[in-house]
Amino acid sequence: MPFATRIDHAILTAIKHGQAAPSPGKLASALHYAVTPGGARIRPIILMSVAAACGDDCPPLADAAGAALELIHCASLVHDDLPSFDNADTRRGKPTVHRAYGEPLAVLTGDSLIIMAFEVLAKAAVHDPMRAVELIRILATRTGMPNGICAGQGWESEDKIDLRAYHRAKTGALFIAATQMGAVAAGQDAEQWEDLGARIGEAFQVADDLRDALYDADTLGKPVGQDDLHGRPNAVTELGVAGAIDRMKDILGGAISSIPRCPGEAMLAKMVNAQAEALTPMQWRANRNASKIPGE
Ligand code: IPE
Ligand code: IPE
Ligand code: MG
Repeated sequence: MPFATRIDHAILTAIKHGQAAPSPGKLASALHYAVTPGGARIRPIILMSVAAACGDDCPPLADAAGAALELIHCASLVHDDLPSFDNADTRRGKPTVHRAYGEPLAVLTGDSLIIMAFEVLAKAAVHDPMRAVELIRILATRTGMPNGICAGQGWESEDKIDLRAYHRAKTGALFIAATQMGAVAAGQDAEQWEDLGARIGEAFQVADDLRDALYDADTLGKPVGQDDLHGRPNAVTELGVAGAIDRMKDILGGAISSIPRCPGEAMLAKMVNAQAEALTPMQWRANRNASKIPGE
């Protein structure tokens, strides 16, 4: 079954469970609203790719890990869009959760999705308790303080930002969780998979800076120019568009070299290359192809 189908099925099963009677109807509806339609699902796809590269000997655990990771990501977006954070009106091409359901339900939606993520992993312990506990530990580490997305968001309230720590916690953390959880779901040790996740996360941050600077809101389905608006450091302001693209490709080249030895090493290198292409801004890909000499 394709990764995307496995991920969506696992997420929707968890949401359905959360909506069971006697749940309050609006919050139940908001849970589904927050996770559909999905975005790129890049984090669980990386997770599944690593699990596959390591043999994927327990698919239900990889499915649970992928769903839990994406639930945390979706929760972080719901909270990030709130008026007290970025005050965004649109996300994935539709009104943000607080715009559609109001602020109290948006706070509760994010909270419920976070708790649901850990519940999904706890339930998956029937397949392998030791691996499930390790998955819970990794996801908690990369969600909370001091190294998770909470820490990343927390940096935005500091007078002086440690840029490396900020990016690594805000964006990198869930990519580190992706590679480590994929490995653990397939019975491997987490430690050696941190570097790959961190590098993909760093490249993703540059790609996100490019999208924020180059795209319009309709294409992205969310507000653009946010980095300028909130005075956040951005790779495009620092390096220019071409410089930022080169930087992203350099980081991904490093990511490929950091793939640990495993049966699916070559497949993972292909996956990183495919992500590099997907992360390169559309306009840039089109220009490059148009200027290509035919037959080259
Ligand atoms: C957006 O992440 C938030 C950041 C960390 C920059 P994605 O670009 O992965 O969002 P979706 O899930 O595809 O909508
Ligand atoms: C999204 O961050 C939320 C987290 C990473 C926790 P951003 O504010 O940078 O991304 P968008 O523009 O809202 O997707
Ligand atoms: Mg935001």
